[in-house]
Amino acid sequence: MAYRIPDSWLDELRSRTDIVDLVADYVELKQKGRRFWGRCPFHGEKTPSFSVDSESQMYYCFGCHKGGTAIHFVMEMERMEFMDSVRFLAERAHMELPERDEGPSSDETRTLKERIYAANVEAARFYHAMIWKPEGAEALNYLHRRGLDDAGIRRFGLGATGVGWDTLTRHLISNGYTLEELKKAGLSGEKDGRQYDLFRNRAIFPIINPQGKVLGFGGRIMGDGNPKYLNTSDTPVFNKRQGLYALNMAKKERGLTRLILVEGYMDVVSLRQKGIEGVVATLGTALTEEQARLIKRYAPEVWVCYDGDSAGQKAILRALDIFDEQEVAARVIDIPGGMDPDDFVKEKGVEGFEALRPMKPSEYRMIRAADGLDLSTQDGRTQYAIACCSILRKVANPVELENYLTKLVVQTGFDKEVLMRQIGMTNVSSSKEHTETVRPKLRPKPKEVPEFMKAERMLVNLMAAGYIGDEFSPENVFVTPLYARLAEGLRAGEKPAGLLEKLNDEERGEAARALLDESGIERDKIPQAVAECLTKIRLHRLDEEISRVKQELKDETEPERRSALMNHLVQLTNERGLTRRV
Ligand code: UTP
Ligand code: MN
Repeated sequence: MAYRIPDSWLDELRSRTDIVDLVADYVELKQKGRRFWGRCPFHGEKTPSFSVDSESQMYYCFGCHKGGTAIHFVMEMERMEFMDSVRFLAERAHMELPERDEGPSSDETRTLKERIYAANVEAARFYHAMIWKPEGAEALNYLHRRGLDDAGIRRFGLGATGVGWDTLTRHLISNGYTLEELKKAGLSGEKDGRQYDLFRNRAIFPIINPQGKVLGFGGRIMGDGNPKYLNTSDTPVFNKRQGLYALNMAKKERGLTRLILVEGYMDVVSLRQKGIEGVVATLGTALTEEQARLIKRYAPEVWVCYDGDSAGQKAILRALDIFDEQEVAARVIDIPGGMDPDDFVKEKGVEGFEALRPMKPSEYRMIRAADGLDLSTQDGRTQYAIACCSILRKVANPVELENYLTKLVVQTGFDKEVLMRQIGMTNVSSSKEHTETVRPKLRPKPKEVPEFMKAERMLVNLMAAGYIGDEFSPENVFVTPLYARLAEGLRAGEKPAGLLEKLNDEERGEAARALLDESGIERDKIPQAVAECLTKIRLHRLDEEISRVKQELKDETEPERRSALMNHLVQLTNERGLTRRV
């Protein structure tokens, strides 16, 4: 986030948006009590467990435990980042974003962008119409030959430039665009006072973003010529390094378990046409960090499926490093025989493609480490072992590591001991460093929530509903950091929705539940419920303390210290007995 938006402005945005209105644009809602209910748009379900509350301006799904405010809803539905979602909602609510140094030209830039988007849509229509005309026959035949049918051509909005030097430019100018605008859109050029189309003699792939805006084009030359693919250069609305081809389609594919990342437009079109979902491609550049982060928002995992030639293999290794850095779970589909995915499905069909096993990154890196080495020589095996050990240093999962090591022993003939030492795992400190890279997910499964946490959740819930005030001070009561933060925030007068916006994705679902769940208690039973909650938490604290003292006693040999600990234990046990009876 480049700059921080004031909480008061976000409050205003939330109240002007009305989350029920917003959600109703995407989900059919029915009112029940003061809540609205619908079928969750984030996971498939038959009976509605998605609830929206206009009073607190939050939503929560009791099925998949996602929750948040209007901003998060748009982030999920439109696959946007926080600031883009804020901008989206601001536009919808006719609010100006709070001041920042955008300079006096920002209005102009906005209109220029709108003009470029409009010119792009018009260009896309023009190209697509052209493909069905005689001037588009060469492109149409080409795409047919590559296995596309007319329905596929329509679905992807593919087009043809037709013939001539400035056909599109003339068309757009007659529609009211200036040559200046068309140059900025990357559609037209000018030389020696003569205008021309940048895309000529090509089949056209429009690049459409998840919001349905046409950002630019990729064009495949008809026949031989250079470059084979021409892509729109960077414009005020398009940056090749930040988008992906076919994201507009992936956006509509809910519940994808993986994206498939391929190299080219044709690969995307061809795999998708065969019914494979979630296929996207970079836009004529190597994978960037931004794209890796973008991918993470669409699916929990990405399968890198580049061409099987040596350029593709190198690009896979680079992509894996980027995914590692950006903490995106990746696998590799290694296409045999140097083919690209498009050729491969044509030859082996979807079944053949689906039979390819996605490999773990380390497995793939080990295969590539053998390239150029002769494993029948001692020298080759040694170099291979060294390379693999440095790959294996990154494997955090001990069982997985064991598997690789076993394989490596067989391949190289080195002892496992030796290989482990090469990996650098023999001393305790480095092995510790290793395991720390696997971070256990701390979020408890909804079913296994212990009693004291349920009590904490209920207290937070009652506080959010305004049923309890200052009966206790949160700092002394709450054990779980998340609930403590919520309770302290509420006590300090923060709005529930505002609190949610400060949490990360993992915390937000649980927080939304605590803030929103219907406690279902009658008002006159609340004091008793609060007392019970406080008791449960107190008991938990005592239990923790008791087991800590017991542990200490076990290790303690010094008599005086032992007797002090014994006394403390007796005290705690007594207190526990008394607390139980309250
Ligand atoms: P390929 O050359 O592998 O494309 O480039 P392809 O789809 O296999 O080509 P044909 O049509 O079957 O012969 C893969 C991607 O690399 C980018 C494009 O995005 C292309 O889809 N590329 C390639 C360029 O940007 N410019 C080029 O000149 C070539
Ligand atoms: Mn290719």
